[in-house]
Amino acid sequence: MQCRAQCVPKLSRYLSLPGKSLCPTHRNARALTLALLCATWIGAPLAAQVPQAGSSQNRSDENQELAAPRLDARVQSILAGMTPEEKVGQLVQYSAGQATGPGTGRTDYEDMIARGQIGSLFNVVDPREINRYQRIAVEKSRLHIPILFGLDVIHGFKTEFPIPLGLASTWDPGIVEKVSRVAAMEASASGIRWTFSPMVDIARDARWGRMAEGAGEDPFLGSAMAAAYVRGYQGSRLDAPDSIAACAKHYVGYGAAEGGRDYNTTEISEHTLRQFYLPPFHSAVEAGAASLMSAFNSLNGVPSSANPFTLKQVLRNEWGFRGLVVSDWSSVGELVAHGIAADDATAARKAFLAGVDMDMVSSLYHDHLQQIVNSGSATQDELDDAVRHVLRVKLALGLFEHPFVDEGASAKVLFLPSSIALAQTAAERSLVLLKNTSGTGGKPLLPLSNDIRTLALIGPLAEESTPPSSAGGAHPHEEILSLHAALARRVGDTHLLHFKGTGILGGTDQEITAAVAGAKKADVVILALGEDPDMSGEAASRAHLGLPGRQQELLEAIVSAGKPVVLILFSGRPLTLPWAFEHVPAVVAAWFPGIQTGAALTRTLFGDVNPSGKLVVSWPRSVGQEPLYYNALNTGRPPGIADLSHPPANVEDKYLSRYLDEQNTPQFPFGYGGSYTTFGYGTTSVRGNRLSAAVLNKSLNDKANAVATVEAEISNTGARAGEETVQLYVRLQGTSVAQPVRALKGFQRVALAPGEKKTVKFELKPEAFAIWNDRNEFAAEPAKVSVWISPDSAHGSEAQIEIVP
Ligand code: NOJ
Repeated sequence: MQCRAQCVPKLSRYLSLPGKSLCPTHRNARALTLALLCATWIGAPLAAQVPQAGSSQNRSDENQELAAPRLDARVQSILAGMTPEEKVGQLVQYSAGQATGPGTGRTDYEDMIARGQIGSLFNVVDPREINRYQRIAVEKSRLHIPILFGLDVIHGFKTEFPIPLGLASTWDPGIVEKVSRVAAMEASASGIRWTFSPMVDIARDARWGRMAEGAGEDPFLGSAMAAAYVRGYQGSRLDAPDSIAACAKHYVGYGAAEGGRDYNTTEISEHTLRQFYLPPFHSAVEAGAASLMSAFNSLNGVPSSANPFTLKQVLRNEWGFRGLVVSDWSSVGELVAHGIAADDATAARKAFLAGVDMDMVSSLYHDHLQQIVNSGSATQDELDDAVRHVLRVKLALGLFEHPFVDEGASAKVLFLPSSIALAQTAAERSLVLLKNTSGTGGKPLLPLSNDIRTLALIGPLAEESTPPSSAGGAHPHEEILSLHAALARRVGDTHLLHFKGTGILGGTDQEITAAVAGAKKADVVILALGEDPDMSGEAASRAHLGLPGRQQELLEAIVSAGKPVVLILFSGRPLTLPWAFEHVPAVVAAWFPGIQTGAALTRTLFGDVNPSGKLVVSWPRSVGQEPLYYNALNTGRPPGIADLSHPPANVEDKYLSRYLDEQNTPQFPFGYGGSYTTFGYGTTSVRGNRLSAAVLNKSLNDKANAVATVEAEISNTGARAGEETVQLYVRLQGTSVAQPVRALKGFQRVALAPGEKKTVKFELKPEAFAIWNDRNEFAAEPAKVSVWISPDSAHGSEAQIEIVP
């Protein structure tokens, strides 16, 4: 018999229809929907009670929202009414907008949604389109389960902030939290309730283009940033209308791609995985991340998207993760190419059994999962569990109560003056002053004097470094200035000469000649060089890390014009530029600073703000040093004090862990960044310099009580106010597993007026002294501990702590 409810246009009408006018299937479904909505309304907070943006301190925390028992009861009642096809549908996701990977050719999403065959869509950014799809899910599908809409909102939605590598260079989790709060506010107002961010992959190799998307090479800093992103996106509660679910990616080890080539194989021992690669993910989970994305890479021969050790043992059993695991784009299908599945059905089975809940794009769950369950290769319980993970996130987000977005609301929250101001502060703090030596008269070249009469701005990145916009759509143009426009506004058109010099990749002899002639007429030259924004990020590995195209030629020609040069480098990674670091007096690593590029750089060049960013990746001298990271093991033949700047002259200098033709040290170490003032570091001193491993092990989870206090006096020894990120490192010797030559265990930003001194104190908790030991257990062991308080990973005065049994 034809069901009369098939033409029901609205959920409200459907709910108000007399029960006997519906077929049995719809009657049951309606009863279930009513029960769910009642339960939700009773338990739902009033909008006015929802804590507002930025107020995450009263967040329930630690995975709790997803663990709430009230969610389980509701999930259970939905599950009870679902057909196997509807269950599989919740585990299926497609891209319905601009593709960010190879497609499947499927476009029949509307029919599939109506049949309950799609749980999530992504890459749809127009609120009207989002509502259109949602209406099909909520009004036409049998169970009215809303679609979860996702997007890569990675450094802002429309208000574009610095790239994540730049954001991390602020060493300021507070600003990262605020930035992601704004991103959440803007994205959710367009109906996007799930971001595929933060990327928390440890990146030790600048050839890997995705270094741009993360927080660099260190697990301690990476963990702090991971938690800050999650807090910002998810706000004080997930069901607030302006919260979006975070997705920590790419789980796990993706950043260790061999040769820095994207998507490449990784080999990471369990010890290294636990000590370096897993902590930022754990931190995201502890901060309550609603989801994780399984990565593309093969991990020790078992692809991350079919890896039961990482997805089940570590994530679910050890960390108690209650959220959802989505595959990366087609990474389920790619199990065939990896060679662990001879056909698509096997790929789907392996990914599913390993713990991937949702299949992004490959369509293999849609095609095969029901059959996999029917044949007994996976159980009903396993299917229900995966569906539970998805439904729990949808319920926690309040999607059942508020499936639609107010189509007129989105414009009201985009580019708010407070968001643009935040973009400027974030951009200013992300800039890293790499070098600032004398221009004329022995004074550092930067900041520039306001009396400069003629400035030449040269280079392709003077215009092209300002992003058009992140998720499409227009900028409020009066606020968004390129470096060229911002400098012209600052010094006046008549005082600014502007030459492109070269393109990022192309360029002619005439352009270079004209730029050199222009440079000769100027008092100071600002050179804006580097990579195109598309030369980092996904599928953007590079084997050569110099300036692309003819830019090195331009650089050398401009320097030979004899005028003081400030080089501003735009890039998603460090670039190997030994010539520039030797011959150019002032160099700033700008990364890609976002919509306030022009304003932030101009204010910094002229000293309205004092640069305070520090490197979160070791800056290589040459590509041959990669992978290069400060927290390395020592080797049995460390070079010690040997001079590696020339080839070995004798046996003592030769049989060392070294290169014949390059130094071991980076051009600039992790943690390094200059300022227009100078900071003095006093002696590091320790209270609590004899600890007991047994006592530490009893209190490893004690995050409240410190077992040692390490402090040093930091002074501003220059003439300007400045902010300094003070870092604390440890080294443990005598342990069962060799430990890095240094490991970051604390950092603090301190603001100091000229001449001011502050004692900076670090309270170390038991876990700062624990390691992943030779049984892969996290425990403290007897050890000699060196501690440094320092401005970067290569300096500082050393103090000692002893850990006795
Ligand atoms: C593939 C990327 O690896 C991942 O980071 C991204 O979230 C998805 N594509 C979706 O765009």
